[in-house]
Amino acid sequence: MFIELTNITKYYGEGESAFKALKGVNLNINQGDFLALMGPSGSGKSTMANILGCLDVASSGKYLFDGVDVFALNRNERALLRRFYIGFIFQGFNLLPRTTALENVELPLLYRGIKKQERKKMALEALEMVGLNGWETHTSNKLSGGQQQRVAIARAIASKPLFLLADEPTGNLDTKRSLEIMNILKWLNTDLKITILMVTHEAEMAKFAHREVHFLDGNIDPRYLANATAGANYRGDSALYADSTSKMDTAINDKDSALSKNVTTTIDSKDSTLDSAFKVDSAESAKSTPTYTAKESK
Ligand SMILES: Nc1ncnc2c1ncn2[C@@H]1O[C@H](COP(=O)(O)OP(=O)(O)O)[C@@H](O)[C@H]1O
Ligand SMILES: [Mg+2]
Repeated sequence: MFIELTNITKYYGEGESAFKALKGVNLNINQGDFLALMGPSGSGKSTMANILGCLDVASSGKYLFDGVDVFALNRNERALLRRFYIGFIFQGFNLLPRTTALENVELPLLYRGIKKQERKKMALEALEMVGLNGWETHTSNKLSGGQQQRVAIARAIASKPLFLLADEPTGNLDTKRSLEIMNILKWLNTDLKITILMVTHEAEMAKFAHREVHFLDGNIDPRYLANATAGANYRGDSALYADSTSKMDTAINDKDSALSKNVTTTIDSKDSTLDSAFKVDSAESAKSTPTYTAKESK
């Protein structure tokens, strides 16, 4: 099992005023899956996504990411996991204003200490993947919402994370741009074999996923309990997965590595929403990259 959540609870606040946002969630996700997490506002979807993405920790329960006990890791180890293996896309895009598309995509690669030339190459490839060639030098405030979200996707996938989290990625977009974004996510899942969890409350967008799990009041909606563990039955292509697993072990166990030190010194100084996780693999990125061929819509 790629991702296994057992009895996850999350409290916000303390004592009398503590609010229980997650009430014992059990959820499985296999490599290659594309899961739509749905449910009413306030039901705990973002809380769940933030825990899955190692941006936050649960109050109790167990989270296994490819066999790694996430809550047993310290803050820096979790940051390492996030930077190497997890990508994020948010409803509000979260790009740096007055900064070019290329610079936005390069930023997390810079945090990871990837050298200038390689960084630029990886970022250009990612922008091309989302159909933004020609837009590299445009600053984010000059781009449309749909284009900004595509820059955010490029930033999240620049070095092919294993797991992509998208929290209402089409929430600020009209139907046409939303469908463009969904087609890109679908392509990332089928062609790049990236496992995806997407939060959405639009049924039309959820159709792009392999399965739906609905939240209700801090837990899986009882009608979707079977679906929540159905991930156990979904088998994606495991080639990329097997390769990456050993690299993750190395990254996490080698605490003296330059990378590990680099992460340690930069983690506390950066906005966590910009801390998308990326996997450094120059051999991989040197290969030619498949390209998503969407037409730019004006
Ligand atoms: N940082 C926080 N502090 C206190 N309460 C929070 C915080 N974040 C979320 N909540 C509460 O937890 C519940 C679940 O929120 P959230 O996970 O954002 O739901 P969703 O994404 O499904 O709309 C809501 O009642 C929300 O008000
Ligand atoms: Mg939310």
